[in-house]
Amino acid sequence: MHTEHKIILSSSQKMPELSDGSVQLMVTSPPYPMIKMWDNLFAKADPKIGELWQKLATYSQEETVRQIYNSMHEYLGKVWQETYRVLVDGGIACINIGDATRTVNGKFQLYPNHSRITEICEKIGFTMLPYILWKKPTTKPKYKGKGAFLGSGFLPPNAYVTLDCEFILLFRKGNIRKFPPHDKLRYESVFTKTQRDEWFSQIWALKGTRQTIIELERRTAAYPDEIAERLIKMFSVKGETVLDPFLGSGTTTKIAMRNERNSIGYETDKNLLSILTKKTRSNDHETSDVKIIKR
Ligand SMILES: C[S@@+](CC[C@H](N)C(=O)[O-])C[C@H]1O[C@@H](n2cnc3c(N)ncnc32)[C@H](O)[C@@H]1O
Repeated sequence: MHTEHKIILSSSQKMPELSDGSVQLMVTSPPYPMIKMWDNLFAKADPKIGELWQKLATYSQEETVRQIYNSMHEYLGKVWQETYRVLVDGGIACINIGDATRTVNGKFQLYPNHSRITEICEKIGFTMLPYILWKKPTTKPKYKGKGAFLGSGFLPPNAYVTLDCEFILLFRKGNIRKFPPHDKLRYESVFTKTQRDEWFSQIWALKGTRQTIIELERRTAAYPDEIAERLIKMFSVKGETVLDPFLGSGTTTKIAMRNERNSIGYETDKNLLSILTKKTRSNDHETSDVKIIKR
């Protein structure tokens, strides 16, 4: 089947290229609020966040930390709102997100990104569905956020639980999708019983991507192909369109191609163009047409 793929080098906070109700599925992983590796991105994308970090360095107020966290989610929220607009009635949104633990102002705490995104998406109008926990290979427990348990780390009560799961939040816009009886492409998209049993269980124990290739790829914190592959097959039909508003290195596009779905990806970091081109070309799919659009 011939499929079409658009990579748009621009912000997904506005997606004028997409009309209302034109996409069947969204699969994405945004930059994670309060995770250090994304601080610069948020500060550059929203100058208010940069100013708040500066204010925090001078006055170290807890209220400022709260404002930073809120503003990061406001930034992402604009993309969830725009996604709601472009999804068809019954379309599904899959958001891979990790919570963050961090010591700011000398205070260690959890920033529960998954619950904040849930609140925002419910306010937008999405219906929440049972979610998936992606259990990553276990990392060592930490003591006061500083490293492995040592000395008093074996004594109650000041040690912390390690975050070794990320969330794949699942939302639906509107009503369940309806198909004509025996819809050909839907039946061609069938999964096996083994796949069904594994994919629709709540805990997915998958290894993270082998991010050994180049620094550029590491910087995108790409998710494993297997995550995109399962979600695309679970929640879309061959010939439909998958959106990734935070495309990174292009994993979603690559997997959509491999599974005969069309795709649209948005990415603001133009330095990723080389890796995006490589990842979406190395697939060797003659029947896929890839267009890179600079807005
Ligand atoms: C966690 S990475 C995505 C990784 C991706 N799942 C992969 O497998 O490579 C998030 C990406 O979102 C991009 N980004 C951040 N804000 C954006 C926006 N408003 N519009 C489009 N892309 C954005 C960042 O540059 C980053 O590459």
